[in-house]
Amino acid sequence: MGITWDCAQLSTPWHHPEKTLLEIASEADIEMVSACGSKTICSTCKVEVIEGLDQLEPRSPEELRIAERLKWGGNIRLGWATRF
Ligand code: FES
Repeated sequence: MGITWDCAQLSTPWHHPEKTLLEIASEADIEMVSACGSKTICSTCKVEVIEGLDQLEPRSPEELRIAERLKWGGNIRLGWATRF
């Protein structure tokens, strides 16, 4: 099993303890915008999770705040804040 990045049309290994989606993407040379430098200000690192949402850690209070403000569904996550 792996992570499929539809935007880049490639897959990366699934298990990445302690790493965020942004870090995993970066290591695979998948470009992900992160305009505020992971300060939960801009939301440019958002990702849509199509499958496996139950495998991710719940939203942090900071991520929850921006998700509620922007009225995101549960499958939209901040790349810098989302870990397995
Ligand atoms: S880089 Fe700004 S919230 Fe993700």
